[in-house]
Amino acid sequence: MDQVLAEIKGITKQFPGVAALKDVSFTINKGEIHGLIGENGAGKSTMIKILSGLYTPESGGTIIFDGEPFKTYAPLESLHRGIVVIYQDFSLFSNLSVMENIALGPYVKDGKPLVDWKIMEKTACAALEKLRFQLDIHAPAGSLSVAKQQITAIARALANKARLLVLDEPTSALSKGEAAKLFAIMRSLKEKGISLLFISHKIDELFAVCDRFTVFRDGRCMGTFNKEELDGDKLVSLMAGRKIVYKIFDKNRREEPLLEVKNFSKAGQFKEVSFSLRKGEVLGITGLVGAGRTEVAQAVFGLSQPDTGSLFLEGKPLVIKSPKDAVAKGIGYVPENRLQEGLVLGKSIKDNLVITVLKAVSNRLGLIRRDKKALLTKEWMEKLAIKPPLPDLAASKLSGGNQQRVVLAKWLAAAPKILIVDEPTNGIDVGAKTEIHQILRDLAAAGMGVIVISSELPEIIAIADRVIVMRRGRIADQRFCEGLNQEDLLSKAL
Ligand SMILES: Nc1ncnc2c1ncn2[C@@H]1O[C@H](COP(=O)(O)OP(=O)(O)OP(=O)(O)O)[C@@H](O)[C@H]1O
Ligand SMILES: [Mg+2]
Repeated sequence: MDQVLAEIKGITKQFPGVAALKDVSFTINKGEIHGLIGENGAGKSTMIKILSGLYTPESGGTIIFDGEPFKTYAPLESLHRGIVVIYQDFSLFSNLSVMENIALGPYVKDGKPLVDWKIMEKTACAALEKLRFQLDIHAPAGSLSVAKQQITAIARALANKARLLVLDEPTSALSKGEAAKLFAIMRSLKEKGISLLFISHKIDELFAVCDRFTVFRDGRCMGTFNKEELDGDKLVSLMAGRKIVYKIFDKNRREEPLLEVKNFSKAGQFKEVSFSLRKGEVLGITGLVGAGRTEVAQAVFGLSQPDTGSLFLEGKPLVIKSPKDAVAKGIGYVPENRLQEGLVLGKSIKDNLVITVLKAVSNRLGLIRRDKKALLTKEWMEKLAIKPPLPDLAASKLSGGNQQRVVLAKWLAAAPKILIVDEPTNGIDVGAKTEIHQILRDLAAAGMGVIVISSELPEIIAIADRVIVMRRGRIADQRFCEGLNQEDLLSKAL
């Protein structure tokens, strides 16, 4: 018999107007990697916020952890029980050192008044040792790469004697190589008897690391399954309630140049990058994370300046000094890091949506016409199936994937001449990916030039007419996508 670590029984969580969790029950065993999956807004993050004591569930349910029921549903209780959640932003103190981030916790937890630096150093080193990872423990956490910040957060969890480690979409900002390292660490933690609860929208990852899966749909638990009982298709139909096939769109060969990038170079980032985007095409840019794709996009959008190189728009030289210039010339850019860069969390969905289209919804005096604003909001909320469909809801109250959709919608609604989207379906559930692909294809068909930066080769193959492969800051290959397969692309990227 497997030993149960956490028994979640009849948990319900009600937000004003939304039942995020409805009578949810499942168990997490000791020393297992347990996948938690469901569509955007299914209640996954809410569940872990209850486990970590950030939210209190409605009365009636219980969580029994290692034989003892939860009493207060408060953060301190969860911490004492050894439940540690690593959120997408890791919640590290960026100006404190790696060592302080890892080892301060026990002090806070036990309320020790004096900080013993020697012990702190020992604690930090011991935790990193357990992960078999070396880091400069005196470096400020904020100076580290995303992958290293994540290691720091996991080391901190170990220093806090974690028994249940919860990872909410930990791989969305990692390269494939970094993700593989994280999975190795997850497996070694499991060997040590720690339980892991892993949330991801990437089906291949879930099957690569998880022993069991619990599926949420619309706030309800659809059951827990052993890996052997399921395959990817079954898992997806359990979570979506229907079968999902990835649509591969018909490819076009367009000729009329819209944007030309010539000899773009920036020291340490990219070198002699030249390509053209044609009117009405979807151009994919792929390559490993760190290949320079995002950096090139940011330079085109005016977020940074290349050392050398020039741009042409419809044959005429184009100077872009800032994002403002870019927007004025009809260029839109949806960053990869949408949650930090793309949303005003305190504002409503409606306000976030119309930021980029203020002109279209204003009258001649510059006043915003409420009827137009409402119409536009309604249209785009429907197109991207944003849930819940309440335009006045603060963006902070949306699930992660729905926040992503709002940022996408805001740029799509602006209908620029050129749209650059970085990882358009990052954090978006499988069911909604094709809808987003369809919208991008429609925009291209209407004459826009769309650049899609994506590490997901199936995504590139599904929607791009042409693809550029970047490797170590340079263009390694350019070709039409018609008849292209994944293996061809992969070999070019590596
Ligand atoms: N603080 C809040 N106030 C009001 N509603 C909320 C709040 N937090 C979450 N919700 C709602 O609860 C539901 C579940 O959200 P949750 O964040 O748990 O989804 P999720 O499964 O993590 O989705 P995703 O994959 O998009 O991250 C959503 O409808 C969301 O809008
Ligand atoms: Mg979430």
